[in-house]
Amino acid sequence: MKLAILSRNAKLYSTKRLVEAARVRGHSVRVLDPLRCYMKIGKGDFEMHYKGARISGYDAVIPRIGASVTRYGTAVLRQFELMGTTSPNSCDAILRARDKLRSHQLLAAEGIDLPATVFGDNPDDTVDMLSMLGPPPHVIKLNEGAQGAGVMLTEKPSASQAVIEALRGLYAQFLVQEFVAEAQGADLRCFVVGDRVVGAMKRQAPSGDFRSNLHRGGTAEPAEPRDDEVEVAVRAAKVLGLGIAGVDLIRSRRGPLVLEVNSSPGLEGIEAATAVDIAGAIIDHVAACAKEPNGRKRVKPLSARSKKRD
Ligand SMILES: Nc1ncnc2c1ncn2[C@@H]1O[C@H](COP(=O)(O)OP(=O)(O)OP(=O)(O)O)[C@@H](O)[C@H]1O
Ligand SMILES: [Mg+2]
Repeated sequence: MKLAILSRNAKLYSTKRLVEAARVRGHSVRVLDPLRCYMKIGKGDFEMHYKGARISGYDAVIPRIGASVTRYGTAVLRQFELMGTTSPNSCDAILRARDKLRSHQLLAAEGIDLPATVFGDNPDDTVDMLSMLGPPPHVIKLNEGAQGAGVMLTEKPSASQAVIEALRGLYAQFLVQEFVAEAQGADLRCFVVGDRVVGAMKRQAPSGDFRSNLHRGGTAEPAEPRDDEVEVAVRAAKVLGLGIAGVDLIRSRRGPLVLEVNSSPGLEGIEAATAVDIAGAIIDHVAACAKEPNGRKRVKPLSARSKKRD
């Protein structure tokens, strides 16, 4: 197949591994910086140029679109889709996954369990909003946070209110969750490709922290997810319409809870922890999708309701 990888930096580990895995399998592959793709939109006419030359004829594209370029990057991806190129993660699926409130609503509507979550806009509603959640400890998360930065634990109602007031003062978007203490600072990253979990790792927070992010000093080890965890991870990716996803779960007394579904999951941590050729699994999946007769096979969200909301 003729494959494009949308990535801002060809030297990133994930990008390099995808290129390598594609070449090993005999595919032609090119890394395109999404910010250097420019487009013409006409009636039934979708054209794309890259650094002065027209690009066309790609069977598949793998988007690796960072949060900071979501808007432009998904427009480029949509243009590829309109030009008939297949993508394991459609632009709409990426937009669904990037919006925490929206993805939580979609997952919960499909019966996928997550930590109870509240959010609100007006400071006058904070006390009642917190009463909907129950007593602390609470986990307060910035919507734009990543790698554990902007995730806070509050132990007293007055602390929850003070943090919320401070965030509102900064015009930050956030949500508040029940604290799942029994997770004991661990989470489970399940790497979903198609309808399989191809690798999983358990990340453990350093002592004294509840956040298991590797960037916060967490450690990773390979993990064998239980059947119910595999089922939830695969279903969560499917609800959002993602063919490739990093699904983060925490283990609670009532079963696995989804924390986040990442549409551009990194390969470095998971390949190092599991020694699985995740890049190869992605390329094989994308090649199989590109072979579909209409060349447009993409994972669709499960419910008609979530489709209507697009
Ligand atoms: N409700 C919760 N109860 C217990 N622990 C939690 C809860 N939410 C998050 N954590 C812990 O904190 C870590 C960071 O939280 P989370 O993954 O939601 O934010 P992030 O990694 O900063 O952002 P994102 O994953 O969206 O990029 C999790 O990996 C988990 O270990
Ligand atoms: Mg996380």
